[in-house]
Amino acid sequence: MRKLIAGNWKMNGLLAELEDVAAISEAVAAHPSVDTALCIPATLIRPAAGRFADMAIGGQDCHMAVSGAHTGCVSAEMLADAGAKLTIVGHSERRAAQGESDADIRGKALAARRAGIAAIVCVGETEAERDAGQAEAVVLHQLTGSLTDDATGDWLSVAYEPVWAIGTGRIPSVEDVAAMHAAIRAALVARFGAGGADIRILYGGSMNGENAASLLAIPNVDGGLIGGASLKAEKFLPIVAAAASA
Ligand code: PGA
Repeated sequence: MRKLIAGNWKMNGLLAELEDVAAISEAVAAHPSVDTALCIPATLIRPAAGRFADMAIGGQDCHMAVSGAHTGCVSAEMLADAGAKLTIVGHSERRAAQGESDADIRGKALAARRAGIAAIVCVGETEAERDAGQAEAVVLHQLTGSLTDDATGDWLSVAYEPVWAIGTGRIPSVEDVAAMHAAIRAALVARFGAGGADIRILYGGSMNGENAASLLAIPNVDGGLIGGASLKAEKFLPIVAAAASA
């Protein structure tokens, strides 16, 4: 399976930062064996998508409806129209701050498919849930509720992102990542049959140039979703290089 390394710029980036998108696109071109993507603010998708062909440009969220009275929202069709090839849905920051439910996220994933773009569906436990021994149950529950019945690996990926590892510099042990990704894989195969083996499972949360090689070597870690280390080419490139040699 080709690895996917996707950056998540979150709410960072003005037009001036298109130069950073260009530098990242140029850098990742050295590793054509890895699929790469950069999920940037909606305002930058149009100017970026036309210019940088070596990496897919994506959004970070979409509404489930095609259009309508949803002030401030962006539909999957609008992302596609602007040139996006994919979108993140269900990031924990949106689950927490915008109160998004698994059903909302399932609707957003369906919208992405309807619009002809790929979806990265995020799941992950909080630190309290892990401490209580509930990490796997929480993640599998989110997974069941957030995935659509027609999920296939050509348009959908899952990102396992422990909430407590996002932006903190802390990551789970290799054993814990391996166990969670194996549990997610088993759930995907149980639900989707052989096709469940083709759905990429990304790890996200403080992945960087130092830890990427060990994380990407874990079975069923099919790529990464990268926040802070995706903002600059010199931080992102080592992760893509690690994926190329994993
Ligand atoms: P981080 O963010 O790499 O900065 O921890 C990952 C994410 O939120 O997707």
